[in-house]
Amino acid sequence: MPALELIEVDKWFGPVHANRSVSLVLRRGSVHAVLGENGAGKSTLMNILFGVEQPDSGSILLGGQRRVFRTPKDAINAGVGMVFQHFGLVPELSALDNIALGAETTRRGRVDRSRAADRIGELAAELRLEVFLSRRVADLTVAQQQRVEILKALYRGARILILDEPTALLAPPEREGLFAAVRRLQAIGVSVLFITHKLEEAEQLADDVTVMRHGAVVARRKIGRVTRATLIADMVGGRPAQHTHSERVPGDVVAELRGVGISRGADVPLTGVDLQIRAGEIVGVVGIDGHGQQLLCEALAGMRQPDDGTLLLRGNEQRTWNRAAALRARVAYVPEDRLTAGVARHLSIAENLVLNRVGDARFFPRGLTARKAMKANADALIDRFDIRCRDGSQHVGSLSGGNVQKVVLARELSRDPRLVIVREPTRGLDVAAIANVHAQLAVSASGGAAVLVQSSDLDEIRTIADRILVMRDGRVVADLVNDASVRTAQLGALMLGAARTEEA
Ligand SMILES: Nc1ncnc2c1ncn2[C@@H]1O[C@H](COP(=O)(O)OP(=O)(O)O)[C@@H](O)[C@H]1O
Ligand SMILES: [Mg+2]
Repeated sequence: MPALELIEVDKWFGPVHANRSVSLVLRRGSVHAVLGENGAGKSTLMNILFGVEQPDSGSILLGGQRRVFRTPKDAINAGVGMVFQHFGLVPELSALDNIALGAETTRRGRVDRSRAADRIGELAAELRLEVFLSRRVADLTVAQQQRVEILKALYRGARILILDEPTALLAPPEREGLFAAVRRLQAIGVSVLFITHKLEEAEQLADDVTVMRHGAVVARRKIGRVTRATLIADMVGGRPAQHTHSERVPGDVVAELRGVGISRGADVPLTGVDLQIRAGEIVGVVGIDGHGQQLLCEALAGMRQPDDGTLLLRGNEQRTWNRAAALRARVAYVPEDRLTAGVARHLSIAENLVLNRVGDARFFPRGLTARKAMKANADALIDRFDIRCRDGSQHVGSLSGGNVQKVVLARELSRDPRLVIVREPTRGLDVAAIANVHAQLAVSASGGAAVLVQSSDLDEIRTIADRILVMRDGRVVADLVNDASVRTAQLGALMLGAARTEEA
């Protein structure tokens, strides 16, 4: 009898199909990784299991019994615990009070603190989850706060523990500490759902893996019986590509890198990158997370000055290269994390759409803003990019993530850029919005822009790119024309490195 079964869970958020008939079996006492890119639907599924969200259909079986969790309290009472990506602790209270608060050990209606302290102390010792129980949570490190959350769930009797992207905020040694704690939990019979978008973590820790993509389960694997190459293919997909890119003819070289390297502050330095991007061309960049794709994009966008080599724009060497210089050269940049890096959340859509136009007399005549021109600009872009909002005066902070993303894209692509750098352009978007973004990138390229798209979705790159660069260990290891001869599996092998593929 498995600890838990999720059966054909479906969940929509407006037009977004976040979970598509998702089924999952959690074996008793196992560590089960739910692996998938950001936006795959992992947190949604876990929120449903923990009673935070209600499924549109589908069921939850605990120990073979059908259960309905209307609130987290229902889930906790049934022995399910969850540690969220963002903790829910009260900073002013001690770790002990946070753990004991709301749990039963009461004496005449009051928390019996000394009894609670004893039990929590024992639990912490057994699992070697070191926490300063009397200290205020505000004074604890993130890793300690996470331990408080884990203890809190176990103190409430969790036999199934959900950890949602638990390593995101941890330093490497803290990560090892967490992994050791998970193994001890497993040893005392707790079943763990470990949510991650990092392949290596699933490999290191899990017995079973469920891989999700675009809201659906695409693979179920047993670690130990699956190669890394297979897991990569599961994560990034392997649908045959529908090419949308054949008609454009590349023009002059817009951007060129010669022997560019970045080593300062980089885990994996960028090394010896030679590259040309031509007008009218969409170049895709792929690689396993952290292999230099971000540095390459940031170098081209002027977010980082290269330590070595030369960067040329339309044949001119750029000695001083920063974001201001890049803006003057009409280099558009859409970062991966649009919510924090892309927009001013407290400003309106209309204002955000001209943030990169300071100095443009149309919108900022002699230092004043021109409301009318701004509104007309916003109306046109809201329509063209299908931004779902009340009108241009709405604050960007009140938009859904997908629509914020469209605002950033609209702003960057509407400025008649010569070079467009976009990272993860459709992450978290629904199917219709994805098609729109792909169409707009194609419009930019057809209009003569050189476009560089970095994506962890190989299907996306296969669909829109004319050329594909594969990066590994900070180098460009392949530069391929994206035609029917390219196989997605071949890209996966290049990302991984041939030697490691053979070994895997
Ligand atoms: N409360 C919500 N309202 C609207 N859309 C949501 C909500 N929660 C998640 N989504 C959307 O559902 C999809 C899956 O998100 P999520 O489950 O958070 O993915 P993951 O945890 O795998 O990164 C995304 O497109 C996301 O934008
Ligand atoms: Mg998530």
